[in-house]
Amino acid sequence: MKIIMLGAPGAGKGTQAKKIAKKYEIPHISTGDIFRANIKGGTELGMKAKSYMDQGQLVPDDVTIGMLLDRISEADCEKGYVLDGFPRTIPQAESLTAALKERGEKMDYAVDVDVPDESIVTRMGGRRACLKCGATYHVVFNPPKAEGVCDSCQEALVLRDDDKPETVQKRLTIYHDQTQPLIEYYKEQGILVTVDGTKELNEVFKDIVAVLGA
Ligand code: AP5
Ligand code: MG
Ligand code: ZN
Repeated sequence: MKIIMLGAPGAGKGTQAKKIAKKYEIPHISTGDIFRANIKGGTELGMKAKSYMDQGQLVPDDVTIGMLLDRISEADCEKGYVLDGFPRTIPQAESLTAALKERGEKMDYAVDVDVPDESIVTRMGGRRACLKCGATYHVVFNPPKAEGVCDSCQEALVLRDDDKPETVQKRLTIYHDQTQPLIEYYKEQGILVTVDGTKELNEVFKDIVAVLGA
């Protein structure tokens, strides 16, 4: 099964993608996590991405598209994957559609996690991230077992640089401008599913499973 997660920054794409990946035993591919891992590792790709990400801007398509298409060509992607944070622009979506078509494949679902802007800013301020394994928590809505420590790998949790309120606002503007048009794009392809992302996170997951099948 091949799934795309759509939704504003902080809508819960990563949270739901991880649950989907676990249940359906497919890899969770987050372009944001790949960039953050590269920044942490000090790679050339990481250095390129960092300046854009810290400002809340999108990393250019020419960097992002090749990286993602390489990733989905790896062996673990044979029975599907859940994409989180890609595509984010119409050119990215078109490249993905074309690459899949070339392989005689297609996307199964694009799941839009719908959350209004007002709820987003509150969520981001409380988010804590593990830069080692990509796990995310929320100080109130989804706390780790021990404060400030990742449940899975014991790494210290951090507030992401781009989760400052003024940067979140900028990411939201860019989302509406460049990413939201993808909702229409996937609606036209007939694979769009919309879920109410304001519900409690396990409820959101139930709604997604109801569509994908148990
Ligand atoms: P990326 O890492 O993808 O960030 P994003 O899309 O801005 O999304 P977030 O990860 O901030 O939010 P999310 O929807 O995953 O929410 P989460 O589940 O954590 O990208 C970062 C940057 O990388 C971009 O700005 C860009 O610069 C670059 N980039 C990445 N991909 C790119 C691309 N394709 N092209 C160009 N540039 C790219 O949830 C948020 C919080 O809310 C958490 O604390 C969570 O615990 C909590 N929460 C989740 N669900 C609920 C719920 N139902 N109720 C209450 N709380 C909840
Ligand atoms: Mg995320
Ligand atoms: Zn971790």
